Amino acid sequence: MSDQAKTPAASSAAKKLFIKTYGCQMNVYDSQRMAEAMGAEGYVLTENQAEADMVLLNTCHIREKAAEKLYSDLGRLKPLKAERPDLKIGVAGCVAQAEGEEITRRMPLVDLVVGPQAYHRLPAMVRGEAPRIVTDFPEEDKFDHLPARTSLNRATRRAPAAFLTVQEGCDKFCAFCVVPYTRGAEVSRPVERILAEARDLVARGVREITLLGQNVNGWHGAGADGREWGFGRLIRAIAEIDGLDRIRYTTSHPNDMAGDLIEAHRDVPQLMPYLHLPVQSGSDRILKAMNRKHTAAEYLRLIDRIRDARPDIMLTSDFIVGFPGESDADHQATLDLVAQVNFGTAFSFKYSPRPGTPAYDRPEVDGDLADARLQELQALLTRQQKAAQEAMVGRTLGVLFEKPGREAGQMVGKSDYLHSVFVEAPQAQIGDLVQVRILESAPNSLRGELAA
Ligand code: 5AD
Ligand code: SF4
Repeated sequence: MSDQAKTPAASSAAKKLFIKTYGCQMNVYDSQRMAEAMGAEGYVLTENQAEADMVLLNTCHIREKAAEKLYSDLGRLKPLKAERPDLKIGVAGCVAQAEGEEITRRMPLVDLVVGPQAYHRLPAMVRGEAPRIVTDFPEEDKFDHLPARTSLNRATRRAPAAFLTVQEGCDKFCAFCVVPYTRGAEVSRPVERILAEARDLVARGVREITLLGQNVNGWHGAGADGREWGFGRLIRAIAEIDGLDRIRYTTSHPNDMAGDLIEAHRDVPQLMPYLHLPVQSGSDRILKAMNRKHTAAEYLRLIDRIRDARPDIMLTSDFIVGFPGESDADHQATLDLVAQVNFGTAFSFKYSPRPGTPAYDRPEVDGDLADARLQELQALLTRQQKAAQEAMVGRTLGVLFEKPGREAGQMVGKSDYLHSVFVEAPQAQIGDLVQVRILESAPNSLRGELAA
């Protein structure tokens, strides 16, 4: 597949591609890139699965429930495939990587299985010029073999906020996590590629870029000046792009929160005051069993340094409850850490044993007990989220309009802190970045008015 995109077929003749994306934002980005690659093959995106010539399921393997969704969705596709045997069904993403042949064995209706590091092979697979299952980790950077983002076609819609993957894979090997196996070793994309892609996005009207990676703050690379750059330096270089108003990044590991990155939060106005920094547990015993390689106190010290650099920063995190060996005291330590940090929002999950991970065979915490702990933690996090949202009322914040709201004349966009904000703004356009006075906090959004 060359970098040169072929002209898509006329829309009447164009084949239709339906993509369902599960899981994390890296999958959202990958789905866009696959849509672009298939666009070069004459496919246009459809939101209606029933009219699709090809259905691509871009899957997530992080917890058992996520992986099982694939099989129930494939089951639901059986009648459609029976009606139209030429319908192509593809499975991409981390379940494809982890379960490969098992997918085609369990679900013979699947035509092709492509792992997350092999998306550049997808067009050849669809043409029948590559094997049915491709899950190897090639030497080359898959992104170099996908169409350049400037060769956009109808497969990709315009949006003022975009994702840009700068780093993939993970070398941390947390004892519960499949990512090092499904996404492979940590790889950083080169500076020049990232800057070129960011400039292309901005030239197309993008005003906010979220830099993505499983360990995005572990990104490093040879800079334009010949020196080794860390992630903070990369952010400073991206911030120099004219017309780019906002930069975000996700997701990060506490141990890669280098000084230059913390300083970027102090110095770079485009870097939004929002940081997702998973801690998983507040108990040192459990953190050790999880192979997190930091203590609760180290995490708290890090939070202090980040808040010193950017006092208004909103912090979010991920938690796992019911990890093997977790006692009541360990759980209490997690609640204590949450109380101490005061998060803007957070994701919490019940531990799900994943085949192939070090923790898989360890004796599990009783399921009902884990459920109760999850509820208790979520209740606390929900209280903090509500308080953080209510604290926005009366403040004036930047809001980037992303789409029309539910009511006529209304727009909805994201605040600096990533809250959805509904604003009456009949004259406004998608892509406008405006100042909004926050009037009201609803359960999952804010309402505001245009500031004078
Ligand atoms: N069980 C439950 N939660 C998990 N996560 C990762 N692996 C598991 C697992 N086996 C959670 C972690 C991670 C987030 C993306 O998903 O909290 O940060
Ligand atoms: Fe998984 Fe840990 Fe790597 Fe995050 S840092 S992707 S939780 S192994």
